[in-house]
Amino acid sequence: MNGTLVQPQQVLKRDADSFLHRTVQDLFSLKGRTIVITGGARGIGLSFGFAVAEAGANVAIVDLLSEPHEHFYKLEKDYGVKVKLYKYFTERRLYPILLKFMFNDRSDVTNHAVLGATFEEIVKDFGRIDGLVTAAGICPDEPFIERKPESVARCMNINVLGTYFAAQFATASMIKQEPLDDTHRGGSIVMVASVAAYVASKGQTTSDYCASKGAVLSLAKALGVELAMKGVRVNSISPG
Ligand SMILES: NC(=O)c1ccc[n+]([C@@H]2O[C@H](COP(=O)([O-])OP(=O)(O)OC[C@H]3O[C@@H](n4cnc5c(N)ncnc54)[C@H](O)[C@@H]3O)[C@@H](O)[C@H]2O)c1
Repeated sequence: MNGTLVQPQQVLKRDADSFLHRTVQDLFSLKGRTIVITGGARGIGLSFGFAVAEAGANVAIVDLLSEPHEHFYKLEKDYGVKVKLYKYFTERRLYPILLKFMFNDRSDVTNHAVLGATFEEIVKDFGRIDGLVTAAGICPDEPFIERKPESVARCMNINVLGTYFAAQFATASMIKQEPLDDTHRGGSIVMVASVAAYVASKGQTTSDYCASKGAVLSLAKALGVELAMKGVRVNSISPG
């Protein structure tokens, strides 16, 4: 599709009798699709991994952790789908030939170059990207008046810019690739926001977190409109 707009007649090209040869399970199946999950090495991101693997999807996890939660290995073992945790290794030499170190830069959503290289690697390994879940996030709990610029910037960088650029890299792949069939072109992005985007939490001092999740919610709305005609659906969910 090369990033061209999806024409309405393409979106609506459906076989009216498809119910005769497709089951409801088929319609919900993610078989053959690749879902990327940022922050998927544990917690909510990892449980998304289980959900999409159960529906048949291959799972690519992008996370800062050097060691995932033990359940990650269960995901690898139990579902018969391809699963990979992305760590981005770079080679640096202290003295030519004598000492070679492999540094694990890991897949930090705040490192634009590493994140871009990771998405490229995913496309090489899996062949395509059909879905993205942005679960990477942090929640500092410190009084507003004591917050330091670096700490607030880190929260914004992970929660907002990490979501923004992961979505940008995923979209770039989704709009280039051929659809798997005539009902599935483009892709789907789910951004993990929070109930903190809607309400203040009494008992917690999470000013920057709340602001960041408000931004994620707005980003999902803006991209939902901007990317709709490219066939990329964008939604957010707000756990809490
Ligand atoms: N747990 C809750 O009650 C709750 C409620 C509302 C929203 N959320 C949101 O859901 C998401 C997941 O939350 P969780 O409770 O599972 O948290 P978690 O801390 O268990 O998991 C977050 C994951 O993100 C990864 N991560 C953090 N910074 C990263 C970075 N720079 N690059 C790549 N990965 C990074 C962590 O390594 C971790 O694996 C977060 O965005 C969080 O804000 C959680």
